[in-house]
Amino acid sequence: MMENSLNPNGHLVGELQEARKCKKLVYAVALTAALAGLLFGLDVGVISGALPFIAQQFKAGTERQELIVSSLLIGAVIGTLLSGILSRTYGRKNTLLVSAVVFAIGSIFSALATSAKMLIYVRLFLGVAVGIASFTAPLYLSEMSPPRVRGSLISMYQLMITIGILSAFLSDTFLSYSENWRIMLGILVVPSSLMFIGITLLPKSPRWLVLAGEKARAREVLNRLRHAEEVEAELDDIERTLETKQGGFELLRSNKYFRKVIFLGIVLQAIQQFTGINVVMYYAPKIFNIAGFTSTSQAMWGTVLVGLINVLSTFIAIALVDRVGRKPILFAGFIVMGLSMGTLGTMFHIGLQDSHTLQYAAIGSLLMFIVGFAMSAGPIIWVICSEIFPLSGRDLGITISTATNWLCNALVGMTFLTMLNAMGPAHTFWIYGGLNVLFMAALLLFVPETKGVSLEKIESNLMSGKRLVRIGR
Ligand code: BGC
Repeated sequence: MMENSLNPNGHLVGELQEARKCKKLVYAVALTAALAGLLFGLDVGVISGALPFIAQQFKAGTERQELIVSSLLIGAVIGTLLSGILSRTYGRKNTLLVSAVVFAIGSIFSALATSAKMLIYVRLFLGVAVGIASFTAPLYLSEMSPPRVRGSLISMYQLMITIGILSAFLSDTFLSYSENWRIMLGILVVPSSLMFIGITLLPKSPRWLVLAGEKARAREVLNRLRHAEEVEAELDDIERTLETKQGGFELLRSNKYFRKVIFLGIVLQAIQQFTGINVVMYYAPKIFNIAGFTSTSQAMWGTVLVGLINVLSTFIAIALVDRVGRKPILFAGFIVMGLSMGTLGTMFHIGLQDSHTLQYAAIGSLLMFIVGFAMSAGPIIWVICSEIFPLSGRDLGITISTATNWLCNALVGMTFLTMLNAMGPAHTFWIYGGLNVLFMAALLLFVPETKGVSLEKIESNLMSGKRLVRIGR
């Protein structure tokens, strides 16, 4: 499904030059589908700024607040698990349309919530849309884009997530002056409706059309998206790959190498979440508060800075992933994240209240942590997870690894405030710092380097019994 997710031999610059030669419709398609990434980011980001006001209005304690944050994530697990079947049965376009409708309805109802309990249920429902979008949009993008620009289009999707988070932080900040959390949540009905309108205009995925037995319509769509001489070859390719039936469950039962690589996908996505990234994404204003920046405005603008650094640092990964390779960047990212979380913990241990210098240094560490994540684990874990699964088990592999991402995301969201209350900020951040150090070892022991290797080669290495760490050679 996501084969050649990043062009193994080319650099982004080369890809973009090639992309310029593509028909304009490809860009329109990419932009609209990437709107799903924007919504994903908006929904993830919006809660951090809204939470303090919601907590105040509904008198929600720690547990309730954690549930408000993480109900969306549990919904996303459910959405991800449903999306394989939905996108196969009803098509990628219709599935994205359903998610846009759920986004819109969910946004309106979350703005109208009359109790914390109602908000928890509405966010659970909204989460289903986030989960569906997180599986279907990259899938649709990878099927609509010509192979040579597929990498840059999927990276654009990740970039849109970070832009979504930043936009939510910004809009929360402007609205924080009126303390109006209802508008913060409700305003998301605007991008959801835009997404709905945009997607109705999009063509159906040619791969799905062939799957549904509509080859003539698939040819029509390809004619609009590709140069004339490419169309028949791609149709042949699609038919050939569809001959490889998606036999994920059968593979899971009968093939120990497939089980191994499923394990790798699970570990990778768990690692991404246990770096602690979403502790910062969801609770940034809270962290600024306990670091001594007590006014709402300071905490909110600090959070915007977090979002901005997150967007900008994603470009480092985009520029380097095909040149330097996945593992060196990940390794560097874990070092930066481990050190910065460790330093942050130490500063809280020393005590920040009386020293402005220490307060700023603590925020510096927090921002360094974001740089470490966005340049490495943020995009690259998604890239590797789209590369390691054998074709016939790719749907299942990506479903399981994506669901793991959301599940661990929920665990982190559900436990942070409790950890903070039970052991204080120093120990909490030390624990996350320590985990990042552990991940360096896991990276060296288990994770293959997939730069410049074809997906077929990765698959044949895996199935010939090579150790996981070597399947990229
Ligand atoms: C992660 C999200 C995270 C986001 C931050 C994504 O790659 O999966 O959990 O919130 O990056 O930019």
